[in-house]
Amino acid sequence: MSQDKTWSGRFNEPVSELVKKYTGSIDFDQRLAKWDIQGSLAHAQMLTQAGVLSSEDLLAIRQGMAEILAEIEAGKIEWSLDLEDVHMNIERRLTDKIGDAGKRLHTGRSRNDQVATDIRLWLRDQISDIQNLIQNLQAALVELAEKNAAVVMPGFTHLQVAQPVSFGHHMLAYVEMLGRDFERMADCRKRVNRMPLGAAALAGTTYPIQRETTAELLGFEQICQNSLDAVSDRDFAIEFTAAAGLLMIHLSRLSEELILWMSPRFGFIDIADRFCTGSSIMPQKKNPDVPELVRGKAGRVIGHLSGLLLLMKSQPLAYNKDNQEDKEPLFDTVDTLIDTLRIYADMMRGVTVKPENMRAAVMQGFATATDLADYLVKKGMPFRDSHEVVAQAVRHAEQNGADLSDLPLEVLQGFSSLVAEDVYEVLTPEGSLNARNHLGGTAPEQVLKQVARWKEILAA
Ligand code: ARG
Repeated sequence: MSQDKTWSGRFNEPVSELVKKYTGSIDFDQRLAKWDIQGSLAHAQMLTQAGVLSSEDLLAIRQGMAEILAEIEAGKIEWSLDLEDVHMNIERRLTDKIGDAGKRLHTGRSRNDQVATDIRLWLRDQISDIQNLIQNLQAALVELAEKNAAVVMPGFTHLQVAQPVSFGHHMLAYVEMLGRDFERMADCRKRVNRMPLGAAALAGTTYPIQRETTAELLGFEQICQNSLDAVSDRDFAIEFTAAAGLLMIHLSRLSEELILWMSPRFGFIDIADRFCTGSSIMPQKKNPDVPELVRGKAGRVIGHLSGLLLLMKSQPLAYNKDNQEDKEPLFDTVDTLIDTLRIYADMMRGVTVKPENMRAAVMQGFATATDLADYLVKKGMPFRDSHEVVAQAVRHAEQNGADLSDLPLEVLQGFSSLVAEDVYEVLTPEGSLNARNHLGGTAPEQVLKQVARWKEILAA
């Protein structure tokens, strides 16, 4: 009979190899080791203050854990599948080193509250890293916006040329989205940062624990108030993955635009060679692999969100082994997000803007038609009538292969006698941009105001 497992005393035969592999989590949860030790040290200190452990025990535990941490950091620890998960691996290593004090560490706790604590401690740190990376990407976009505040590009609705917009304004739209992603991370972090420890297996413990002490030692903002909920709650992981999914959706939108803009059909931008790859057969190709992969990886993260939601669906209270399945999707979500944010900031700093091509596209799409309609309204024509007049002018220009600004004054006056020489000021893309000079508008002056606003936020 195997005595390897800490719980094997009750069993008549050893667990089969297949079951060991199937139920073990050490292959992936070893990544929580540092946070597991952090939690254990706080737990031991609290138990000592509560008179459950002696100060000699605490000293030995601290000594042993410091050694284990060093072994982990040096990559010297050998994880054993026989010990199932990171919690039992570390406990066994500790006991090998310090004997009975190591065996006493698990007093008044269970792996159920331990694992929930570990994930929260770990995720809390990851969210802080992610928040910094979001702001780094925002800074890259703000730089681009500042440099290109006065660069005109076609703004699209229905992917048809609609009205001229500033390229800087377009970049700042994504800065806004990422700003909300940052807020969502901050908000979600508050609910991550609550302590389950003390719930033990599900009902609490008979020892005189002081959860406030442990929470303070670990820097938790709040303490989970119901032991059953504490060990079974994974809302925080679902919520985080939802926030991550939305962030990836935002980046998938920008990616789609970069891909289109880099296509020679648009020719609006170029992406530095180091973010692109060639084709093994077509020598002329330069492919935007990075944005394409980001678009694809958005699907991967949304998949993890569905996975986590379904993992929790219909689970009875309290802890169920199902919850061991929370880790891989959560880890992969964090890894994907961190890699994506890093590479994206670098890539945006490697974007070359091609203003001539953007302007040429504006000139091809009658993008200033609304401006002509507004011009007539300002001269006294009702908007619905001006809309119709301009539609006729556009038709005429189209038939003659010209832009509205190419039509001679007499021709424009043929559509409405209200037209005068000053009409050409509103028919240029630059005139159109400058005219939208209000909070949230695309005028370069407004774009630069927003750039200044964001620079201040990001520097804080
Ligand atoms: N490895 C487990 C997990 O990740 C730890 C908790 C297991 N608890 C238990 N009673 N089997 O969820």
